[in-house]
Amino acid sequence: MLKDQHGREITYLRLAVTDKCNLRCFYCMPEDGLHWLNRSELLNYEEMLHLCKLLVSMGINKIRITGGEPFVRKDIMQLLRAISGIDGLDQISLTTNGVLTAPYIPELKSLGITSVNLSLDTLDAGRFFAITRRDEFAAVMQTLDELLSHDMQVKINAVVMDGRNTQDILPLVGLTKDIPVDVRFIEEMPFNGDSHVYTGLAWDHVRIMEHIKQTYPAIAKVPDGLFSTSYNYRIPGHLGKVGVIAAYSRTFCGTCNRIRLTPQGELKTCLYEGEGLNLRDLLRSGKNDIELKEILTHAIGHRAKDGWEAEALRAANSPAHESMASIGG
Ligand code: GTP
Ligand code: 5AD
Ligand code: SF4
Repeated sequence: MLKDQHGREITYLRLAVTDKCNLRCFYCMPEDGLHWLNRSELLNYEEMLHLCKLLVSMGINKIRITGGEPFVRKDIMQLLRAISGIDGLDQISLTTNGVLTAPYIPELKSLGITSVNLSLDTLDAGRFFAITRRDEFAAVMQTLDELLSHDMQVKINAVVMDGRNTQDILPLVGLTKDIPVDVRFIEEMPFNGDSHVYTGLAWDHVRIMEHIKQTYPAIAKVPDGLFSTSYNYRIPGHLGKVGVIAAYSRTFCGTCNRIRLTPQGELKTCLYEGEGLNLRDLLRSGKNDIELKEILTHAIGHRAKDGWEAEALRAANSPAHESMASIGG
């Protein structure tokens, strides 16, 4: 059992398998991309599997594969097949941008992966291009169709950006009427790979919900899962739910059960923390599992109280904003 000094149990690992991406969402990375990690800097699949098995033996029961974009990494299904064979794991899920995902859906299902979170910030092809700087809207919509036709549970993640896609909030909510998809609106976070000063948040979770309630006054709160990042609602008669993720306001830190492994094998015990413990280097220096477990138990035990504390600790030595693609969301 992994527990931190604030009494929170850690059961959820977010594994970022690559920093690379085939989109260039401006809230995540600059137009020219990032200084991509080279191959030897990345954890290889054997190392990922080793760390996953070790963490599962310590109490992790859910693994989410993220990136960058997971399907950009070569032979990603090979890793998923291996992870799906780990004893003691209750759930594997994926967060993807949907550009390359569609052909893999049947195999994902056969591996027992039944839920996919799809990043989609707009239902308008022009705005999709403006936000992602790539002309891939049709591919993503096809993936959404195919996920639904394969009975996958789908959560759409939409980052809400002042002046960019607030006109998409109601159309995205509208999707929940006739299709069983959950739509979650995310507060924009300062993880965009640049060094500009972050100017605060125009659309926080309260404003997003007030905006939705003006058109859907009957929208009602539904119970949230124990470790849910989202506050969840349902509009009477709609098949899907609507959620809002206070990712910037950080209202859910008190029940946070998540740790992260970055593509280069850094352990992050909070999304907002700075450079974390490098497990890749420890593995490559020959540390055995007993030693690794001790180091992990200590690092996770000493995790920050919340995202505000973690951010304050990092602020002094890292002024530039990391890209979400190099943290894994
Ligand atoms: P479920 O497992 O389906 O509940 O998904 P999730 O919300 O854990 O993961 P997803 O990859 O869909 O992330 C949705 C949004 O929530 C992204 O913008 C994430 O960066 C954000 N998010 C996830 N975990 C955390 C966290 O621990 N802290 C903060 N601040 N944001 C998070
Ligand atoms: N703020 C909020 N969410 C973000 N994501 C990527 N960058 C940001 C950001 N700066 C979201 C993506 C994806 C999830 C893993 O993180 O849209 O759905
Ligand atoms: Fe790629 Fe996701 Fe970053 Fe967009 S937010 S550039 S889809 S990693």
